[in-house]
Amino acid sequence: MKLAIVYTSKTGNTEDLVQFIRDLFLEKRIMAELFRIEDVPVVKLFTFDAVIIGTYTWGDGEIPVEMLALYHAFETEEVDHIVTGIIGSGDSFYPQFCGAVDAFRDMLYVQSRLAATLKIEVAMQVADQERCSRFVDIIWNKIENGA
Ligand SMILES: Cc1cc2nc3c(=O)[nH]c(=O)nc-3n(C[C@H](O)[C@H](O)[C@H](O)COP(=O)(O)O)c2cc1C
Repeated sequence: MKLAIVYTSKTGNTEDLVQFIRDLFLEKRIMAELFRIEDVPVVKLFTFDAVIIGTYTWGDGEIPVEMLALYHAFETEEVDHIVTGIIGSGDSFYPQFCGAVDAFRDMLYVQSRLAATLKIEVAMQVADQERCSRFVDIIWNKIENGA
């Protein structure tokens, strides 16, 4: 089973989140390969059984520009065998809190085997750790059992 986490992060909040998720998988002895979006060709991600996408939100609830090619690739390729999850950091000061997570969620729900979504308010708090743990369990159950 091959699991990738691909992400973007401007100020480090989403990076902290994806690293925490990666470590939770490691505790389960599941090796997740972590890539910044700039460092991985999108086609390589299609070779994984499961892909978790991490993104902040920019502009007016928008997907960051560096994530658009990834979005369009998942929107147009045959990815219905891939288990996916979408996570991100946003700021509820903005009208569309984590709008990029919502946009990916809606597309991945149609295109892939979307298992779970997770949004955090700006920087990770202790209370988010339990939510991360549940996110990892749900992803893992979907990979193992299709549940
Ligand atoms: C110009 C600008 C626009 C933003 N727009 C949104 C938005 O529409 N919705 C949202 O939830 N957060 C918005 N944010 C907040 C960021 O997504 C948030 O600070 C996030 O934690 C950044 O993640 P990062 O540290 O991984 O880069 C915006 C931030 C900036 C500076």
